[in-house]
Amino acid sequence: MSTQENPLIPGLAGVPACESAISYIDGNIGVLEYRGYPIADLAANSTFEEVTFLLWNGRLPNVAELEELTASLAAKRQVPDAILDIIRSLPKDGHPMDALQACVSALGMFNADNRAWKDKEKAHEMCLEMVAVLPTLTAAFDRVRRGLEIIAPDPTASTAANFLYMVNGEMPDELAARVLDVALILHADHTMNASTFTARVVASTESDPYSVISAAIGSLSGPLHGGANERVLDSLAEIPSAEAVPAWLDAKFAAGGKVMGFGHRVYKVKDPRAINLQDLVHQVFEKLGSTPIYDVALALENGMRERVGDKGIWPNVDFFSGIVYQKLGIATDNFTPVFAISRVSGWLAHWREQMENNRLFRPGQIYVGTHGHEYVPISER
Ligand SMILES: CC(C)(COP(=O)(O)OP(=O)(O)OC[C@H]1O[C@@H](n2cnc3c(N)ncnc32)[C@H](O)[C@@H]1OP(=O)(O)O)[C@@H](O)C(=O)NCCC(=O)NCCS
Repeated sequence: MSTQENPLIPGLAGVPACESAISYIDGNIGVLEYRGYPIADLAANSTFEEVTFLLWNGRLPNVAELEELTASLAAKRQVPDAILDIIRSLPKDGHPMDALQACVSALGMFNADNRAWKDKEKAHEMCLEMVAVLPTLTAAFDRVRRGLEIIAPDPTASTAANFLYMVNGEMPDELAARVLDVALILHADHTMNASTFTARVVASTESDPYSVISAAIGSLSGPLHGGANERVLDSLAEIPSAEAVPAWLDAKFAAGGKVMGFGHRVYKVKDPRAINLQDLVHQVFEKLGSTPIYDVALALENGMRERVGDKGIWPNVDFFSGIVYQKLGIATDNFTPVFAISRVSGWLAHWREQMENNRLFRPGQIYVGTHGHEYVPISER
């Protein structure tokens, strides 16, 4: 229900929540830009570290600036031993996003300065730490739950290569490292999505940045947001062959279910990130061989185009990312943590922007309850 002056817009669809200069989307023609740079150019030419600088500073770095950021991130990858002990004590069958959220929260307590973020230098150190440690935390939990030794980060490798090294125990080849690097570029920011909005809402209370990021991780974990990528692979694994796709779709639609990896609140055409990721799929398959799951994915894309293409329901970023990650040896339930490893750069860019001109988020509501009840003592109810 809504009033005439203030109509309720479910999900706040399209309602501006802030002014931002970080990223831009035109969902009707499939445009995504970070700080004015088209995503395809960044995917072709940039690195995750450079994109992090761009998102935080609003411009591309020069050589010295990029070297400094890269070295600072590499130097901050180690986490306190007490955090590794926490990781060892977490349930091994728990979800890695829950582990990541818990660890980021705990990490804040190990930084005596966590509430001193109004000091710009300290704030910058905290931002660097969070971008640096998310891969370490994700890989450590993954190793521990598999009964393997935790691998210490390698400060000489890029964020992407080091993550694959810490997960798989060997340094990836150039292609695998570049493919993950591009995937990290593609996921780093995306205007006012649910987790970024969460980050800004928590930031607006002047909470510390660790709370901001752990809240955003919680938001990202939902299946309608970042959690969709692992469910895409679950769906693809459920379908035995490309020929079985029409019957699977018939059953899905008859049950009123949504097909994971399709549809987007903003894009009404194919998500530009899905186009880039599909390109990565081709590169990885050329080198490592194709998987039957890709034929199923293409048949699913065709089937969805026929059924709901006219409603603007197209593949989103999550549709092809899982296929790429699987080929890189990343476990299905680590797909969303990989999303977080990238998106943390965007969340922190929004945290900085929010704090430059902060106003506490405090939206209204439309009350639909009742009034005037008389309190009845419990003994008389
Ligand atoms: C992302 C998502 C929540 C956007 O939802 P939204 O903007 O609220 O769009 P709606 O749910 O209103 O969908 C509009 C119509 O398209 C249909 N639709 C949307 N996404 C669909 C999907 N993935 N599969 C099948 N039908 C879909 C809806 O059923 C609805 O049909 P109707 O008009 O006949 O009722 C939604 O598309 C979804 O749940 N997708 C699957 C999860 C996913 O991949 N999330 C990752 C996003 S990056």
